Amino acid sequence: MPTQSRRRILTAAPALLLAACKGPAQAQPPVSAPPLKQVVPFPLGVAAMTGQFGDPQFVDLLTRNFSQLTPEWEMKMEAILRDDGAFDYARSDAIAAFAADHGLRLHGHTLIWYAQKPAAFERIDGAGQPFADAYRNYILAVAGRYRGRVVGWDVVNEAINEDGEGERDCLWRRNLGPDYAALAFRHAREADPDAPLFLNDYFLDTLPNKRRSFLRLAERILKSGAPLTGLGSQTHVSIHMAPGAVRAAIKDLASLGLPIHVSELDVSIRNADGARGALDMTPLAERLAHQARVVHEAADAFTALPAHQRYAFTVWGLRDKDSWLRHPPNAGDGTDRPLLFDDDGRPKPAARALVDAAAGR
Ligand code: XIL
Repeated sequence: MPTQSRRRILTAAPALLLAACKGPAQAQPPVSAPPLKQVVPFPLGVAAMTGQFGDPQFVDLLTRNFSQLTPEWEMKMEAILRDDGAFDYARSDAIAAFAADHGLRLHGHTLIWYAQKPAAFERIDGAGQPFADAYRNYILAVAGRYRGRVVGWDVVNEAINEDGEGERDCLWRRNLGPDYAALAFRHAREADPDAPLFLNDYFLDTLPNKRRSFLRLAERILKSGAPLTGLGSQTHVSIHMAPGAVRAAIKDLASLGLPIHVSELDVSIRNADGARGALDMTPLAERLAHQARVVHEAADAFTALPAHQRYAFTVWGLRDKDSWLRHPPNAGDGTDRPLLFDDDGRPKPAARALVDAAAGR
């Protein structure tokens, strides 16, 4: 066989195998679950965006099951701050109005994030006082506008380095020094005297060293007297998590006594090494059962916290097909199913696991 066609067959093989697996054996097991928010004794959040609100099934499923909303992107700088430095609240107001209209608590996400470096700030990179003024002005304006309408803010998002060691170098730190995070909390408090103010990050469960760095930063901010009043753990995890790791993270983060937000939960059922790895041929039902065990662990650990530390438990999307892991740049092979409801809005074993954990089962 010529090498060329052999190569073509080899690369086609995973797709063929996948197609072969899409028979009845891959159907998701039927699961029943009551409206989640009615049985979970803490605010249950979900990430969403206004583009989804034209879908009645989406809105119905969301409002029946969740009591809190985190804007997936519409309260980020990318949505609010125009290149010329003007503020555009069209999107953030629209999502805030949706939350108000449907009686949902609104969690503000996010004021300062290393990944957002709008042109309006890049233009004054290195400018000294003008940069510090613009930083204060942004936080005052946005947190001030939604004062009384949000129940809390992610003030600083993802401040710790990818590998868990130390803090990220970023536009904010370069211009404002190592205390840029503490400063953001002070500005946010000036704008909103009541909202819980969160430091939020990911892989606090996957990487214990990242959790240590995160807690060290939280303690430094607290020591400086800045009003950090909550800790968010994104909890983007997978079925390949070591059992107990998610529980250990929640317990450890709670040791400072602050309210905890499981802020962006999803549990990928894909390969440990993502799109590059060999296909995980474990039957789908088994992977979904495994996913349910991870959700159970997270919800059980969260339920075990004292009531005043249970700020909210938020999943990062409604139905599997809504997940950011199913869209670029994360789309992969498009087969991930990381959320509590399937593509058709039916509860998955993971939804049932949340109900059971909240009921102490
Ligand atoms: C993601 C959204 O889900 C995507 O739709 C968007 O394009 C990029 O951001 N950590 C966070 C979230 O704090 O804001 C990110 O959300 C996911 C990782």
